[in-house]
Amino acid sequence: MERSQWGTRAGFILAAVGSAVGLGNIWRFPYVAYENGGGAFFIPYLFALLTAGIPILIMEFTIGHRYRGSAPLSFFRMKGKAAEWLGWWQIFVSFVISTYYAVIIAWAMRYTFFSFDQAWGTDTETFLFADFLQLDVAPGETGGIVWGIFVPLAIVWIISLGILLAGVKKGIELANRFFIPTLVILFMIIVIRAVTLPGSELGLTAFFQPDFDRIWDPTVWVAAYGHIFFSLSIAFAIMITYSSYLPKKSDITNNAFITGFANSGFELLAGIGVFAALGFMAAQSNVAVEEVATAGVGLAFVVFPQIINELPGLNGIFGAVFFFSLTLAGLSSLISITETYVAGFSEKFGLSRKVAVLVGGGAAALISILFATQGGLFFLDVADYFINQFGVALIGLVEVVLVIWIFRKATDLQAHANLTSDIRLGGWWKICLGVITPLVLGYMMFGLLTQNLFQEFDTETGNYEGYTNTFILFGGAAVAVGALVLGILFSIGKWHRDHV
Ligand code: PHE
Repeated sequence: MERSQWGTRAGFILAAVGSAVGLGNIWRFPYVAYENGGGAFFIPYLFALLTAGIPILIMEFTIGHRYRGSAPLSFFRMKGKAAEWLGWWQIFVSFVISTYYAVIIAWAMRYTFFSFDQAWGTDTETFLFADFLQLDVAPGETGGIVWGIFVPLAIVWIISLGILLAGVKKGIELANRFFIPTLVILFMIIVIRAVTLPGSELGLTAFFQPDFDRIWDPTVWVAAYGHIFFSLSIAFAIMITYSSYLPKKSDITNNAFITGFANSGFELLAGIGVFAALGFMAAQSNVAVEEVATAGVGLAFVVFPQIINELPGLNGIFGAVFFFSLTLAGLSSLISITETYVAGFSEKFGLSRKVAVLVGGGAAALISILFATQGGLFFLDVADYFINQFGVALIGLVEVVLVIWIFRKATDLQAHANLTSDIRLGGWWKICLGVITPLVLGYMMFGLLTQNLFQEFDTETGNYEGYTNTFILFGGAAVAVGALVLGILFSIGKWHRDHV
């Protein structure tokens, strides 16, 4: 059977950008930048992008293009079983991410409809936690299914799996050709509206004001690297899978630069839009921007509804556009992450795309119901915390060290990328991958293990958001170790589709 391929270069780039641009760009980047030096954060951010983000993206694009397989098959072709497990490990972490990422998209979808008449009322926080999420069980308990989440969740999976069933070109590529331009246009509308609101300049000042002293703080650099990894969807098997569908004669390096810069451009736009809106909010309620600035669930589902309530007109439309943008940004990322295991399962077990989507995607959809229960938010927080804090840096570190130092593939990959690319890779690429990235990531892992595990999770000093140690450690370890064990188990058998 012929291996699926992208129809056009733009199709591939849109899909890669669609994966990279996600919830992280909208609800995570603005606050990370603001908290870590504002305008001055752009220095560590650009450094992380240029020394780790784009070099690794180039490496993953090259691996996918050269070995033409899902992440585990590509690694298997690179160095046999000694490498295959890494691809599976990435896939199982992706599997976990997909289960809760889908749930957040489901919330955004529901909030799109709430926007029209601001169904959340004036106390948006109580509405979110008590009425919408119905969070009234202890951490670690599930409680009943919340149907108001379950139904949109089912829709999210039907759309995503439907697109995946349609294939690489007729499904993923086509969807992104529609999703990404729509997202950019809608998001531009939000940004323009936000920067023309009274008080927006307060937010923009807070966002861009450089605090150059922070540059000397190592945690700022760690934040920059961590963010770049998550934002570019690297070390999650995604970019390897997507680039394995590139036609033989494709450019690699330039595509990676375009993807990286497009993602950062969108992120910057989101920073401007979000902080302009926060400035408006702060001015309305006569508080400092600091008081309303936040990230994640709180930003999107508590503060934004408040901002929407306060708008001088067209509240419903603005709100719906905002939440619909979140939904689109999320869907294109969910599709990319689900494709990693669809591809892996189908190649390993010789399944058709259809069966792989229904089995792999179906399993993820079933598990995601856990996060649509009354205690779902707790599980979601723990999984997300571990993956963001440890997963990305750890897997990225292992990948770079294995490929560059243990398997010694730098020269070979460099030559491969240079065969078909506009921008030729020089020695800088190897230095970034072989030296700078491992040093920074190694330092990051060390810091995280010593500080987080032993201080932040200490019962005396208070746990992460008040969760018990057992819950966090069980949750976190289950995710990390479970994925690794499954990864090793999956590399045992033979490949059934070694010929595509
Ligand atoms: N890059 C996506 C974002 O910024 C997040 C993501 C990470 C998506 C990993 C899929 C996999 O939100």
